[in-house]
Amino acid sequence: MVKIAIDGPSGAGKSSIAKALAKEMGIVYVDTGALYRTIGYYVRSEGVDPKDGEAVKKCLPDIHIEVKYENGTQCVYLNGENLGDRIREPEISMYASAVSAIPAVRDFLLETQRSIARANSVVMDGRDIGTVILPDAEVKIFLTASNECRAERRCLELKQKGIEVSYEEVLADMIERDNNDKNRAVAPAVPAPDAVMLD
Ligand code: DC
Repeated sequence: MVKIAIDGPSGAGKSSIAKALAKEMGIVYVDTGALYRTIGYYVRSEGVDPKDGEAVKKCLPDIHIEVKYENGTQCVYLNGENLGDRIREPEISMYASAVSAIPAVRDFLLETQRSIARANSVVMDGRDIGTVILPDAEVKIFLTASNECRAERRCLELKQKGIEVSYEEVLADMIERDNNDKNRAVAPAVPAPDAVMLD
């Protein structure tokens, strides 16, 4: 069993590298952002403020998340329904970032992530994989890129999925989200002391 952690801000290329590596090594790729996005999706559908920790916490008992692999692709099921690309909408990115700062949400997803890594060799991408989820990962990479480069990549990715966005909007959202993610009190998106920094 091998565990590879790839952390870093959005749009740096974590998932591209992680997917290619998983394919090359014949191991499982885990996109942990999809889990926070799924909670963000649920919270939005309930009309709950994603920054209201108590209100979001009350939603958790009604959320059942399953991660399945179909034709080599990770699918996340929310209460039995595969959400597909609906969790990729820019509004859901903001919801995901807000709910991910709530400790109860992080606790809720901890075991889901660790159990996948117990059952499989994995390359897992996220924000706190090397620091919190898999602190004993054999390889830890913290991947970064300039804001402009990341926003360009994200724009292209969204357009390929048929989601229309402007570059300026993506850049502003990304900077706001990165600030939330790296300055939050619990499991901030920072490199593990033993991570390899890759720009
Ligand atoms: O990787 P992504 O853009 O799909 O992640 C969406 C949000 O989820 C991101 O803004 C922060 C949060 N997240 C997190 O807090 N920890 C992770 N391991 C992965 C994502």
